[in-house]
Amino acid sequence: MESKTDQKKVLSIGMVCLDIVTVCHTYPKEDTDQRVLDYYWQRGGNASTTSTVLAMLGERSEFMGAMATDVESKFLTENLKSYGVSHDNAMVCGPDIKTPVSMVIINQSNGSRTILHCAKNLPEVSFSHFQTLDLSQYKWIHVEGRPAPDAYNQIMCSVVEYNDTVVEKITISLELEKPGRPELDSLIQYADVVFISKEKADEERLYSKEDVVRAYIKRCKAGAVVICAWGDQGAAALSSTDGVLCTSPVFPPETLVDTLGAGDTFNAATIFALCQGRSVQEAITLGCKVAGTKCGMKGNKGLKDIIW
Ligand SMILES: Nc1ncnc2c1ncn2[C@@H]1O[C@H](COP(=O)(O)OP(=O)(O)O)[C@@H](O)[C@H]1O
Ligand SMILES: *[C@@H]1O[C@H](CO)[C@@H](O)[C@H](O)[C@H]1NC(C)=O
Ligand SMILES: *[C@@H]1O[C@H](CO)[C@@H](O)[C@H](O)[C@H]1NC(C)=O
Repeated sequence: MESKTDQKKVLSIGMVCLDIVTVCHTYPKEDTDQRVLDYYWQRGGNASTTSTVLAMLGERSEFMGAMATDVESKFLTENLKSYGVSHDNAMVCGPDIKTPVSMVIINQSNGSRTILHCAKNLPEVSFSHFQTLDLSQYKWIHVEGRPAPDAYNQIMCSVVEYNDTVVEKITISLELEKPGRPELDSLIQYADVVFISKEKADEERLYSKEDVVRAYIKRCKAGAVVICAWGDQGAAALSSTDGVLCTSPVFPPETLVDTLGAGDTFNAATIFALCQGRSVQEAITLGCKVAGTKCGMKGNKGLKDIIW
């Protein structure tokens, strides 16, 4: 029989946006006119993509973030529904608010993704909105570090406080992805699992995944785990409980097709494995397997039919 905790959800907090994807033979030259291989809309945004992959892996998954009511947002809500990701608690803003859009160029010859992002006036999630959620529904809250440090500090702090008052605890993970946002580093103190990106590491002159986890573990709370994925170098993790450095190699697909959202996929699969009670080593290895598989397919829908 499933325990109550198994029925609890994983909540991903952060951004959802529309990705308008164009697949080209090779990267286009400026001021040329050509045919492309494919064109499609997909739902993007770091937390939104993570919530999708969690649902495909079999977790009960919810996305929470700001959403508009324009044409693009209709596509996004339908798409969330089709993947079985709940968005019942999204912060719906309207009517003059525009959905952020990423124009993405995928170069079929090497799988690279070039992103042109347009964010107009969608606000960040507020703490007062977060307070309307019933935290007893969740076993894990994944937070994408967005440029709203005050709100995110209050959100994460309130989860820690909630955790102290209940028997069925909530685990918090935090993704720090974009460089140039040092004000978000204070969120690390609340997280049980911290994902640091390569882009963020570059800014601090940390040039390997091992250096990143060794540097960041010092800023974490006792018992926390720091994880760093590093493109085709795989991933590393360090837990402050045992101080043992874990690494995973990459699991490259036969051909690289599309690396867009590989990091979000890695995060989702790693969270999934940790939710299942697997070790940190097993979790990052599964993260790399699922992310590597994703790099061999267009989008991520194909992950649905695989049993891990
Ligand atoms: N070229 C690749 N081949 C195989 N796996 C890859 C490749 N690029 C990324 N991955 C997998 O995806 C994970 C996340 O990569 P990362 O570079 O952080 O993604 P993103 O570009 O989305 O930030 C890596 O740990 C790796 O397992
Ligand atoms: C929640 O409580 C558990 C058990 O005490 C602890 O391991 C974990 O770090 C706490 N998480 C947060 C986010 O406070
Ligand atoms: C988050 O989204 C951005 C923009 O789409 C992308 O460049 C980045 O790789 C994503 N992060 C992860 C960890 O996948």
